[in-house]
Amino acid sequence: MQMVKIILFLLLCTAVELRKIRNGRKENRNKHCGAKCMRKHSSHVKRFAHPLKNICEESLYYSEKVLTCQDKQLITIPSNLPDDIVHLQLAGNKINRLKDSMFSTLKNLKSLDLQRNDITTIQPGAFEGLDDLNTLLLQHNQLRFLSEEVFIPIPKLNYLRIYDNPWDCNCNLEDMVRKLQVPGHKNLGNLAKCKSPKVYVGQKLKKINPDWLCPNNIFSNISEVMDPPSSILKEVDFTRCHIYLFPKPQVDCQDKDLTKIPIGIPADVLEINLGSNKIKQLNGRDFIHFKKLDTLNLSNNHIETIDPAAFTGLLRLKTLDLSNNNLHSFKYGVLEDLYFIEKLVLTENPWKCDYQIHYLAYWLQVHYTVQFEGLECTMPNEFKGWTVQRYIKKYYEECPKENVINSYDYDISSLEEEEHGIRTRIIP
Ligand SMILES: *[C@@H]1O[C@H](CO)[C@@H](O)[C@H](O)[C@H]1NC(C)=O
Ligand SMILES: *[C@@H]1O[C@H](CO)[C@@H](O)[C@H](O)[C@H]1NC(C)=O
Repeated sequence: MQMVKIILFLLLCTAVELRKIRNGRKENRNKHCGAKCMRKHSSHVKRFAHPLKNICEESLYYSEKVLTCQDKQLITIPSNLPDDIVHLQLAGNKINRLKDSMFSTLKNLKSLDLQRNDITTIQPGAFEGLDDLNTLLLQHNQLRFLSEEVFIPIPKLNYLRIYDNPWDCNCNLEDMVRKLQVPGHKNLGNLAKCKSPKVYVGQKLKKINPDWLCPNNIFSNISEVMDPPSSILKEVDFTRCHIYLFPKPQVDCQDKDLTKIPIGIPADVLEINLGSNKIKQLNGRDFIHFKKLDTLNLSNNHIETIDPAAFTGLLRLKTLDLSNNNLHSFKYGVLEDLYFIEKLVLTENPWKCDYQIHYLAYWLQVHYTVQFEGLECTMPNEFKGWTVQRYIKKYYEECPKENVINSYDYDISSLEEEEHGIRTRIIP
């Protein structure tokens, strides 16, 4: 009931404030929001004694003392505030810093309105002594950061407004974000959004995944931490990716304008999606740390070359999606480390049916359980639209045996079943 009253009271004030802003110059009429909005319930309104006389106005709201010091150019709170005030209104001033114990004499305070100031800093002990505070308004200020510690002295706080502050969503804000997201805290910080860094602009503090803010933290709970030099981290910023721990550890770096494999991805992830980026080549050892990876999605990039050692280390990889890239062929050796591969997606690549393609065809022939799709010649014109298998078959038919390098020599007849460039794995 108490809470409802306070919120009602604040709403009334806000309504008056809005009108005031709309009326612009006609401000005089509503100079003292507190006085106006409390007229109905106030038993009396009196001017406050010197030295607050012209600054603050005291009134009663449901027999609770209210002190209104609004729009007065104050740069700090007036000294000697009476210690029995329950609601303190300091909106629309020029306060820029809340210092430790600044309000500590106001033991009865239940609501504190500091909206529309220039607050950039709140010291951890600023709300010391406010045991009963349940409402804190800090919207329309200049806060980039707030320590979760400021909430320790105010355990009853259940209504917090902090929107329209330039929140810098970096690692320092992690604890604060976690606090806001506690399920019971449904009226804490609801509308606040990140102003920086660029990747999180516009994201709500209530919704952002706190794990993203401090990438190193999450890494520390996933064994085998990779510790990249910070210079490299900057170069390819892994924080652009999203990490999910459920249902399985996976990293989603889709559509992030990446030109290389980002460094710093936790080594224990099972799935990495790098789809829809601008990666042009895969370098040797790019995936060396991902010993548990089972799915790697590289679709929709510009990959032209794959180093023969690019997939080294991917001992458990089962699915590799290379669709929609710029691949003409695979260099000899590219697939040799993929012992457990089950599925290769190769569609929408400009496969070139010349001698270079033989390695891939040969490898698929030998690893006959591997399911693949999309292996179709786009050049030369002669073979355009053919499956690579058909091209290979023709090649062997036409070429005398002695022209064929031994390792590529295999039984041609078994190629026929792959005429369509698609092989569905047959489980024995
Ligand atoms: C870290 O992982 C262990 C088990 O692997 C788990 O019990 C613990 O809750 C995790 N800690 C955090 C902070 O996620
Ligand atoms: C790879 O990602 C693309 C785009 O998100 C998706 O369509 C495709 O199914 C994924 N491939 C695999 C094998 O999951």
